[in-house]
Amino acid sequence: MQTTASKRKILLGVTGGIAAYKVPGLVRLLKKAGMEVQVLMTPAAHRFVTAESLSVVSENAVFTDFFNDETGTWNNHVELGLWPDLMLICPATATTLGKMVNGISDNLLLTTYLSARCPVFVAPAMDLDMYIHPAVKSTLAELEKQGVHIIPADTGELASGLSGQGRMPEPESLFRIVADYFTEPPKPLSGLSVLITAGPTYEKIDPVRFIGNHSSGKMGFALAEAFTALGATVHLVSGPVSLQPPNGVQTTFVQSAMQMREACISLFEKTDIAIMAAAVADYRPEIQAEQKIKKTENSISIQLVKNPDILAEMGAQKKNHQTLVGFALETHNEMEFAKEKLERKNLDMIVMNSMNDAKSGFGFDTNKVSIISKSGEISHLPTKTKKEVAKDIASFIVKYRTKA
Ligand code: CTP
Repeated sequence: MQTTASKRKILLGVTGGIAAYKVPGLVRLLKKAGMEVQVLMTPAAHRFVTAESLSVVSENAVFTDFFNDETGTWNNHVELGLWPDLMLICPATATTLGKMVNGISDNLLLTTYLSARCPVFVAPAMDLDMYIHPAVKSTLAELEKQGVHIIPADTGELASGLSGQGRMPEPESLFRIVADYFTEPPKPLSGLSVLITAGPTYEKIDPVRFIGNHSSGKMGFALAEAFTALGATVHLVSGPVSLQPPNGVQTTFVQSAMQMREACISLFEKTDIAIMAAAVADYRPEIQAEQKIKKTENSISIQLVKNPDILAEMGAQKKNHQTLVGFALETHNEMEFAKEKLERKNLDMIVMNSMNDAKSGFGFDTNKVSIISKSGEISHLPTKTKKEVAKDIASFIVKYRTKA
């Protein structure tokens, strides 16, 4: 993250969609803000906007081919990829997105994308049926996993005459996204230490079996990212998940509730804010077999014993300067149970999600939560991505601490 947009180098990739005609307007806005702009076009993009227009507004030669026949030179994609502070592909067609996700590099733009070390943003633009096609949806989801920033398409009239989601955002909106990326956001949590738990716990039965649950860890990992962005030093304690810890987050991976407890209790004293988003198993097998249990018996029983409640233990130790936040996943009487947990575990706040909300909870990328504070404030949030929910929880906590 850099502190100012001026002087930043922007590599603009233009692909063959009708929205390409808007790109000269975007280039002008970027140039006016003091940025350097280099444009790369796919061969199909020339059908919708001329290289001449883009060259005039960017005050730079525009590249399309690996070879420049006029000068007999080679356009070096590695150099082009190393040059920018940010790469934005707009409009990004379904074809280009599909090639990006598969590492296909059959033109200069795609080859440069694979060489780029900077953050890459894409603004998909296509007809509404294409935009909601499962192939495009999974391409965008996979690209996001690979670290590409997806700028959602706008909704409105489309070139086909249909109306729906698929429009490339206007140049002003794209400019704002680029400019905001380089503008350091306020960091209200600088100097504070935040502990977050995430994921399930696995309670060992024998060397090959365990009792677990479907928690993906996405909520806790999104919280770690949101709190890091606000300047906090974040320590994440996670059960087994298939996610990469966000940049700058110190992460301890554990298996069982007992291991999670040990990691959390040793960190808690030096923690200012603790958010327990993990789905900790309430029980563990009393005996963990040293060797694989063979299927010699017709039925077997596993005696379970209660795991320590990590959150409640922290609630009992909590000092005045510390903010403790729990999660409650409920199936019925949601508010009542959540408020009861808030009091019983001595929490400052509880984030309640109901199993009855569609697209909410385990495995989903979205969540619908209500945040309830000790002082009685309640915020009912609409269904949002877990990353957005994490940001909302973070700002709720910032406000709560400012008032306290
Ligand atoms: N939690 C914890 N340690 C446990 C169990 C839960 O730290 N052994 C935390 C979770 O991370 C979550 C909160 O407690 O933040 C709520 O967990 P939940 O299992 O819903 O609450 P319980 O108090 O165990 O209530 P119940 O299972 O009866 O719903």
